[in-house]
Amino acid sequence: MAKLYKINTYGCQMNVHESEKVAGILEALGYTQAGEEDKADIIVFNTCCIRDTAERRALGNIGVVKAQKKENPDLIIAVIGCMTQQEGVADTIKNRYPYVDIVLGTRNIAMLKTEIEKVIKSREEKKKKSDKKYRCFDRSLPADYLDIDEKTPQTRTSFPNAWVNIIYGCNNFCTYCIVPYVRDRELSRDMSSVLDEVKKCVADGYKEVTLLGQNVNSYGNDIADENVNFANLLREVDKIDGDFRVRFMTSHPKDLSDDVIAVMANSRHICHNLHLPIQAGSNKVLKDMNRRYTREHYLELIAKLRSAMPDIGITTDIMVGFPTETEEDFEETMSLVREVRYSNAFTFIYSPRKGTPAAKMEQIPYAVKQARIERLIELQNSITKEISTDYIGGVYRVLCEDKAGKHKGMVCGRTESGRLVTFPGSADDIGKFFDIKITEAKSASLFGEKQV
Ligand code: 5AD
Ligand code: SF4
Repeated sequence: MAKLYKINTYGCQMNVHESEKVAGILEALGYTQAGEEDKADIIVFNTCCIRDTAERRALGNIGVVKAQKKENPDLIIAVIGCMTQQEGVADTIKNRYPYVDIVLGTRNIAMLKTEIEKVIKSREEKKKKSDKKYRCFDRSLPADYLDIDEKTPQTRTSFPNAWVNIIYGCNNFCTYCIVPYVRDRELSRDMSSVLDEVKKCVADGYKEVTLLGQNVNSYGNDIADENVNFANLLREVDKIDGDFRVRFMTSHPKDLSDDVIAVMANSRHICHNLHLPIQAGSNKVLKDMNRRYTREHYLELIAKLRSAMPDIGITTDIMVGFPTETEEDFEETMSLVREVRYSNAFTFIYSPRKGTPAAKMEQIPYAVKQARIERLIELQNSITKEISTDYIGGVYRVLCEDKAGKHKGMVCGRTESGRLVTFPGSADDIGKFFDIKITEAKSASLFGEKQV
C-alpha cells in the first residue's frame, strides 16, 4: 500500500509554495497525498512565526498528533519553517514534543529527504538510541542552500496558479518583524533560473504566475550585475509568449521604483494589481517601525500608480497597536485608508515577537488594539463594498481558478485587478479565461455571467 503524507501549512503564500516543494520531495520518496479521512505515514508541519496566532495554531496542532503517534509508532513527524528558526525553539520542540522526529529550519528544506531516510533507517536498525537531528539554517552556507534548492522537485498544488520564488530572506529589519531573524538576509535567484521556471510553468499550461519574495523590489541587489534588478526581471518575464498573467508580492514602498511602475503599465502580461503594505498612517509610527518611508512618499506612489494605471487594484497590510501608536496616530491610519481607498486590506493586531526591538517597548493593552482593529475593519469593509458596486454592469476578463465552495454549479476566479468573481460554470472551466459581466456585488465578492 502506498505510503501517505499530510502537510499542514501555516502563514504566508511563501509557505504555501514551500509546501509545494515539500510535496515534491515526499512524492519523489514514494509518498502520495493522504485524503482528509486517511491516516498519514508522515505529517509535516510547515510553520510560521510572523504573528503569534499562526505560531499558537501550529504548536496546538503538533500537540494534537501525539495521540496518532501513540497509535502508530511508525508515523514520522517533521516540523519545518520559520518557527523552528527562532532562537531556542528547536530545543523547546524537542522537550515539549519529544515524539517529533525531524526539525528543519527555513533554508534547508532540501535536507528533508535525507532526514526522512535517516529516520527510516534508524528505525529499521531498531536503534535504541535516538538519532534525531535538529538542524536549523547554517548561516555560513546560503549559496549551497540555493544550489540545492534549484534542484528540489516541487508538486504544484494551485493550478492554474503557479508560485515562483525570486528572492529569499529580508534585509529590512522592521522593528516589529521576526522575518530577517528567521529567513536570513536577501538572496536572489539567478535571473536565468527564474525565467526558465516561468517558461516551464507557461509551457505546462499554468495561466498565472506569481513572483514571490519578502521584498521583490530588492531583487538583484545582492548580484553584482546591475542589469539584474526587479524592473528588468519583469521586462524579461513579459517577453515570454503565451496567454498568461503575472502578479508579484510583496513590494516595499521604500523600494518601488518608477521603472517598475512603467514596466507594469506597458506590459502584456503583468496585472494591474499591487499589494503595497502601508502598516501605519502616522509618520512617527512608521519611523518607530523602521519602515523608512513617509506617509507623503506612500501617497505619492499611489498617485503615480493610479495615473499610470487608472484600473489598478491596490491592496495593503495594516497593523494596529504598535507600541508607540496613540489614538491620534491610529486616526492617521484611518484617514490614510479613507484617502487611498484600497480594494482590500489585510489587517493585523500587532503581536510582540521575541528578539525584535518593538517587543522590548512598553505594550498597548489588548482591548485597545482590539477596539482599533474593529474600527479599521468596519471602515475598510464599507470602502470595499462601495468599490464592488462600481464593478456592476462592467465586463472583466476573469481567469477561472476553482469551483466556488459554497455555491453549487458555480466557479470563481479573479479580474486582472485581483477581485474575486463567482459565476456559473463547471470544473472544465478551471484554467480558462472568460469575459464576465458583473451583475451583483456583495461586499468583497462579485457575481457575474459569462459573455458570449
Ligand atoms: N504582529 C502583527 N503583524 C505583523 N506582521 C508582521 N509582523 C507582525 C507582528 N509582529 C504583519 C505585517 C506584514 C504581514 C505579512 O504581517 O503587516 O506585512
Ligand atoms: Fe518583515 Fe519588514 Fe522584511 Fe517585510 S520588509 S519581511 S515586514 S522586516
